[in-house]
Amino acid sequence: MDSFSQLIKSMFDGIAGRYDFMNRFLTGGLDIYWRKVFVKETLAAFIKLSYAKTNNSGFNIADIASGTGDIAIEIYNRLKTDKIVRSFFTDKPIHICCSDFSMPMLKIAREKVRKLSGGRGDNNIKFSFVICDAHNSCFKDSSFDIVFIAFGLRNFSNIKKFISTELKRIVNKTLSLSSILEFNNIFKIKSFKFFQIYYNYFITACASIFSTDTGAYKYLVDSIKNLPRDRDILKLFTDEGFKIFNYRKIFPYLVSRYIAIINNS
Ligand SMILES: C[S@@+](CC[C@H](N)C(=O)[O-])C[C@H]1O[C@@H](n2cnc3c(N)ncnc32)[C@H](O)[C@@H]1O
Repeated sequence: MDSFSQLIKSMFDGIAGRYDFMNRFLTGGLDIYWRKVFVKETLAAFIKLSYAKTNNSGFNIADIASGTGDIAIEIYNRLKTDKIVRSFFTDKPIHICCSDFSMPMLKIAREKVRKLSGGRGDNNIKFSFVICDAHNSCFKDSSFDIVFIAFGLRNFSNIKKFISTELKRIVNKTLSLSSILEFNNIFKIKSFKFFQIYYNYFITACASIFSTDTGAYKYLVDSIKNLPRDRDILKLFTDEGFKIFNYRKIFPYLVSRYIAIINNS
């Protein structure tokens, strides 16, 4: 692992215990809404793309940079409660793989997943937890039908390399979907002055009160400032042969959702 990733890993190791609380607090709960929309629209896109095809062997879904597992849990909840999603995936074995390089974050994810369905588990939906660096994972080629990455990309030391080597390698070459949720670099948009002030002052002020690691939240703001513009992120995918199925900003335009596909079916 390179030194930047090493630094990021120890930062997330350190804030794992307060990660969920800080997310809810700093976004006023909006992060829950963003993940819901993200998962809902991604599964809907997958169903739309593969409706006519049958896949008897089931589906493999990855939640890369899974953190405390909120995306994996949202996928589970949607598989259970959304009629259309349920009828598409019915009776097919589904494997949801949560992967992250921070063991403390992933431990919390595993605890949260254990409590799903009152701890009874589910016959069709299985979870696994894999500790690894996204740049150099242990997954086999063509392992996943859908890859979710929420708020992970900006932490990768080399986004371009991740897409061109790892992501491209681990997704199904016949039909797969890679869905990314990431902050929008509002520091490059003049009309977002209010949110620039919010990020620059409020987040770090709150972190100094509620978190033991103010540096981690200063990093959060810096990592947003360093993000490429949306169109440049889209280009990273298209340069590698992915097609953009759909892209949009989610209210209040602080985050963007990208769905890139490989479709050779
Ligand atoms: C901001 S959190 C997002 C967690 C979760 N996806 C969510 O929606 O809350 C970023 C996560 O990415 C993980 N991460 C960052 N860089 C990584 C890398 N190179 N390989 C694996 N995990 C990484 C961190 O450990 C952290 O758990």
